[in-house]
Amino acid sequence: MHILGIESSCDETSIAILEFEENSNNFKVLANTVSSQIDIHKAFGGVVPEIASRHHVKNIGWVLDEALTTANIKLEDISAIAVTVGPGLVGALLVGVSFAKALVYALDIPLVPVHHIAGHIAANYLTHPELKPPFLALVVSGGHSHVIEVSDYTKFKILAKTRDDAVGEAFDKVARVLGLGYPGGPEVSKMAKDGQDTYKLPKTKFEENYDFSFSGVKTAVLNIANKEKDKLRKKDMCRSFENNVAEVLVDHTLAIAKEKNINKIVLAGGVSANTRLREELQNKGKENNIEIYLPEMKYCTDNAAMITAAGIFKFREGKFTNDLSLNAKASMNIENE
Ligand code: KG4
Ligand code: ZN
Repeated sequence: MHILGIESSCDETSIAILEFEENSNNFKVLANTVSSQIDIHKAFGGVVPEIASRHHVKNIGWVLDEALTTANIKLEDISAIAVTVGPGLVGALLVGVSFAKALVYALDIPLVPVHHIAGHIAANYLTHPELKPPFLALVVSGGHSHVIEVSDYTKFKILAKTRDDAVGEAFDKVARVLGLGYPGGPEVSKMAKDGQDTYKLPKTKFEENYDFSFSGVKTAVLNIANKEKDKLRKKDMCRSFENNVAEVLVDHTLAIAKEKNINKIVLAGGVSANTRLREELQNKGKENNIEIYLPEMKYCTDNAAMITAAGIFKFREGKFTNDLSLNAKASMNIENE
């Protein structure tokens, strides 16, 4: 069986085609075409929503053609269409959702709405076909910093979340303060490689739960940068910041895993491409006898293969629709998936 998936929630237009069999989680990625708008938004220092929507409209047609050519498959051979329905930039999401609706209407096949974060988590099933729930997922992206209990393929419970900035957002803001490029995560990470952890930055903890807060560390970076001006050791600051957030993310996740007696942790979201975070999670996992699963680099940032994989699990459970009234949602609770 073949399923086609569409992702357009932010600044990547992506279409993937996956082949799967009924009783196997060994999905074959036949195509995963990604058209990134990073170079376009770079000039503005961040994603400009209307420009993102316009580029999705412009690119989605050829992205589909390229995916079909790469997969060597015809549209008529597709059995269902999965699409990111939210959360994300609503104008950007609407391009993917409308395109998906046109396809299911023309082909008379089911439509599978997918939560973007469920897609990020599903990236791990592509990398580790043997991975099975239950497990804990640490989801870190430009819009989310969540610890999620995944009790089944389509069942999620949020156990901790950020109360202010998402960690990817904090990386992007720190990069801006230090005059580095966009997106900030990879730039900060590159600088951090040659830096020393010499700046003391705060870690925020709450009494009542393991929620995150990154506004304190972000403001501390800003204050030090303003004070030290030309004397600021940028590489050291990047290293100190990266260590700080990697430790906070991993400490909270491990504490939850211990409390809940869960011995599997999965990393997901764009920030899962961060080498320091991957190392920290692997090291602490080993120390505490917890299995750690990391997505392959190519499935860390936004792509349609992960959305399609999440779509397969929903399709198998009959969670699809033929209703063309499906709408994009800027915010959306993964617990109601
Ligand atoms: O998941 P994603 O592609 O888009 C959203 O769903 O938000 O995540 C994008 C975020 C950006 O904030 C970017 O700076 C961050 O992921 N990111 C990284 C790295 N690569 C991407 N952050 C830290 N280190 C990286 N290597
Ligand atoms: Zn994402």
